[in-house]
Amino acid sequence: MLLSDMNQHDSATALTRAPLPLDVAALRADTPGCEHVVHLNNAGCGLTPRSVLSTVVAHLELEARIGGYEAAAARADAVTGFYTQTAALINARPGEIAFAGSATHAYSTALSAIPFQPGDVILTTRDDFVSNQLAFLSLGKRFGVRLVHAPDLPGGGVDVAAMAALMRAHRPRLVAVTHIPTNSGLVQPVAEIGRHCRELDLLYLVDACQSVGQLPVDVAAIGCDLLTATCRKFLRGPRGSGFLYVADRVLRAGYEPLFIDMHGARWTGPDSYRPVDTAARFEDWEFPYATLLGCAEAARYALAVGVDAVASRTPALAARLRDKLQDQPAVRVLDRGPQLGALVTFAVPGWQPQEFKAALDARRVNSALSFREFAQLDFGDKGVDWCLRLSPHYYNTEDEVDLAAAAVTEILAR
Ligand SMILES: Cc1ncc(COP(=O)(O)O)c(C=O)c1O
Repeated sequence: MLLSDMNQHDSATALTRAPLPLDVAALRADTPGCEHVVHLNNAGCGLTPRSVLSTVVAHLELEARIGGYEAAAARADAVTGFYTQTAALINARPGEIAFAGSATHAYSTALSAIPFQPGDVILTTRDDFVSNQLAFLSLGKRFGVRLVHAPDLPGGGVDVAAMAALMRAHRPRLVAVTHIPTNSGLVQPVAEIGRHCRELDLLYLVDACQSVGQLPVDVAAIGCDLLTATCRKFLRGPRGSGFLYVADRVLRAGYEPLFIDMHGARWTGPDSYRPVDTAARFEDWEFPYATLLGCAEAARYALAVGVDAVASRTPALAARLRDKLQDQPAVRVLDRGPQLGALVTFAVPGWQPQEFKAALDARRVNSALSFREFAQLDFGDKGVDWCLRLSPHYYNTEDEVDLAAAAVTEILAR
């Protein structure tokens, strides 16, 4: 049976059975894009499984047939499924999940809930996502918030002991860490950092955009207060989607987004309003229901495939690719750190970025480019202006990874 055809009960059973190793052929049969491309751009956007595609299309058709509001009402149970499946994926409660149109939207909504005062410190790493860094700088410009970057270890990855010392020295208003940076194969030790945040009772925000769907992400084990992710990358959901996790303790403490709307709050009188109790407080009233239902299916699918099985295969495919690239003298693999994930970044000195990517495109190998302006600190440390990024997922084969490495060799030999 294809995972697309499984119902909720089947997928729960598959979860307890821990399907190791994965049936890659069946998973590829479930993924129409596998017939057309060697998709090594999962860190950009994963290929959707058939069931995600059909869920989205079916809802758009239903909207066209019976009306948008009526279609949402008709699929109310499935809408609820988004919260239960997403919560199950990260070990949260459904009421702690808010849907968002992107990870960045989830992130800025979360930031807007923090009553920053001039002089407050945000403690982050040298590898946090570009848009997060821009938001911190913008908070600095408008509210006088100070930004402190924890140093890296000599071999890469944040120095947790140094970061903990900075926590004690600055008592930051917020500690913000990107689990897997977009510009590097690094996996940051978010649970280790979380232990220090809990000990010091510091607000802790994790950007898990690249890790959800690739690695187990457990909010209780991480000890975060807030966590953001997209559904389109390793979770394989539709574009234009993401979510925010808000811990119950944060909701109870009264955090609410600056621009709360009629879905997040009740207008209780001419001069008063009351935020709702759940993380719906961070949502907008208007929803792309077809997309949301596609995300619910993507989360269900990920659980059915098995997060542990994915986590044992996906980074291993990346490690295989990294090894093959490392063997090539004209390639400089840039990934550093004690733990590496499924993103493989490398420089090819002497080449123009678009030229190299186009040569991979011509071989139907999907890749991505990262530029200095995406990673001022990390690329500054590494002394590069741009790099190529290849990011396999569990449905890629060893042959595809080898083909991509051979394509790099061939292009370099031109
Ligand atoms: C680590 C990380 N955080 C956040 C984002 C932003 O996600 P979105 O494009 O959904 O806003 C990305 C996107 O590449 C990312 O890699």
